[in-house]
Amino acid sequence: MGDRVEVELVVNGVRRRATVEARKTLADFLRDDCRLTGTHLGCEHGVCGACTVLLDGAAVRSCLVFAVQASEREVQTIEGIAAEDGSFHPLQEAMSECNAFQCGFCTPGFLMTALEFLRDNPDPSQAEIRAGMSGNLCRCTGYGSILDGVHLAAAKLRDGARGQS
Ligand code: FES
Ligand code: FES
Repeated sequence: MGDRVEVELVVNGVRRRATVEARKTLADFLRDDCRLTGTHLGCEHGVCGACTVLLDGAAVRSCLVFAVQASEREVQTIEGIAAEDGSFHPLQEAMSECNAFQCGFCTPGFLMTALEFLRDNPDPSQAEIRAGMSGNLCRCTGYGSILDGVHLAAAKLRDGARGQS
């Protein structure tokens, strides 16, 4: 067994502490130690994007980050995007309305990627959405509806922001 290290991070607003092998990835930490299995592992090589989470607000591939590298930082996973009462985030609503999933394996990674993308670009063109999502792979090849979902989510989030102002 390799060296073990203490990690302490905030996941979806909850402080988590554990002693883990130094080589343990953030993805495995989330799935094994936090029991947050919405973060999926596809390629485990940084290619597919299924494991995408937000680390201090930036989308990262959690299969390429060691848990210890996330220590003292904030992580948001797919489990953390719905409201506290369980109602869907506008992005989840939009994806559902556009039937933007088939097996759903890639969905958490797409949503976390889209969350960062739409925060940085609230009114994207179709081409910008296509480019923004291009780092995630869908093995069911449902890209058309996924891109539609992100487009609809952008409109919903803009409407929500207008409603608050
Ligand atoms: S599992 Fe991390 S990018 Fe594929
Ligand atoms: S919906 Fe099946 S991998 Fe994307």
